Amino acid sequence: MAARYCRSRHRCGAVRLSEASAGLSAAVLISGGGTNLGAFIDATESGELPLNLCVVLSNKPEAAGLDRARKAGIDVASIRHQDFPERSLFDAALVETLDKYQPDLIILAGFMRILTPTFVDHFAGRILNIHPSLLPKYPGRNTHQRAIDAGDEWHGCTVHFVTTELDSGTAIIQGRVPLLPDDTADELAARVLQVEHRIYPQAAALFATGRLEYRDGCAWLDGKKLHEPLQFATDAL
Ligand code: GRF
Repeated sequence: MAARYCRSRHRCGAVRLSEASAGLSAAVLISGGGTNLGAFIDATESGELPLNLCVVLSNKPEAAGLDRARKAGIDVASIRHQDFPERSLFDAALVETLDKYQPDLIILAGFMRILTPTFVDHFAGRILNIHPSLLPKYPGRNTHQRAIDAGDEWHGCTVHFVTTELDSGTAIIQGRVPLLPDDTADELAARVLQVEHRIYPQAAALFATGRLEYRDGCAWLDGKKLHEPLQFATDAL
């Protein structure tokens, strides 16, 4: 099991983390069910993912994922976006809370807020997101229905670095799912979600082990520029 150093704010301070030798730390941001968060917790607990999950933060205090995090002994925080008159002020509050944990990586896992430069520039090159489509197809919402309506043969999900442009940062890994006859958006979403739970911890593991980085506006894997996203189950990681 990967060691955790962040069960309380006090122990999670910069000093404590700098003393730690168990790898990088990550904050996970959620808004809802948190099944991707669950995949991260499972992967860290099994030792498959060498990352310390130091805090789970939600813009919704009622998010089910916060309970999952509490049960795993991870610090949780919630900051309601409605309490801020502007997006950038909400983002500044997120930054202030996250900075207490000094995370090396920010994992957006169903965090349903558009982030401003206040947040993205602060953690530049260290923010990952997963989007339920084969980007650049279908940025934004309702991706599953849009793939069905378009009669696509394939749908899927993409892990990408986050930039200030919505769902547009460099793609790292994609997982494909075939559309089946008479698929509903919910059925398709459920199959895509299963793939999300596989590829997202894999991408984070590449970052955590120093194989993946974001530099000069590009993703680099093992020191080589990543021109195309890795494909789940076909690329050797
Ligand atoms: C996932 O479909 C993810 O791709 C999208 O939001 C959803 C989050 O699901 N960004 P969960 O909260 O992890 O279950």
